[in-house]
Amino acid sequence: MALNYSKQVMEHFLHPRNIGEMKDYDGTAQVGNPVCGDQLDFFIKVKDEKIEDVKFLSFGCASNIATASILTEEVKGMSLEDAKKYDWNKVVMELGGLPKQKIHCSILAVEGLQKAIEDYESKNL
Ligand code: FES
Repeated sequence: MALNYSKQVMEHFLHPRNIGEMKDYDGTAQVGNPVCGDQLDFFIKVKDEKIEDVKFLSFGCASNIATASILTEEVKGMSLEDAKKYDWNKVVMELGGLPKQKIHCSILAVEGLQKAIEDYESKNL
């Protein structure tokens, strides 16, 4: 049975923003969900305590790709403090909603970003 994805989810799934590996990152994280087996890698470049650049690699479902894509778009240029407060409800809202069984994909994306910021802070604070 096909999932009822919004237009925004399909757009970000089919044309993901900021996808790819970053070699000269300042912070990185790899997160996964043990139940579905999906995984995300996040990379951030930080300048003046702002997210100058952000990239992700997805090894997961359509929502995994779409949520990470829109999250990277939203937080690029944002201060680390504001990015730390960005929560998965906002990701879901920006995507025009997610099927209930796919909410965890947005939580995973936010966790990936938070952990990449933590990685940066653990090396720089
Ligand atoms: S089904 Fe688990 S991250 Fe999408």
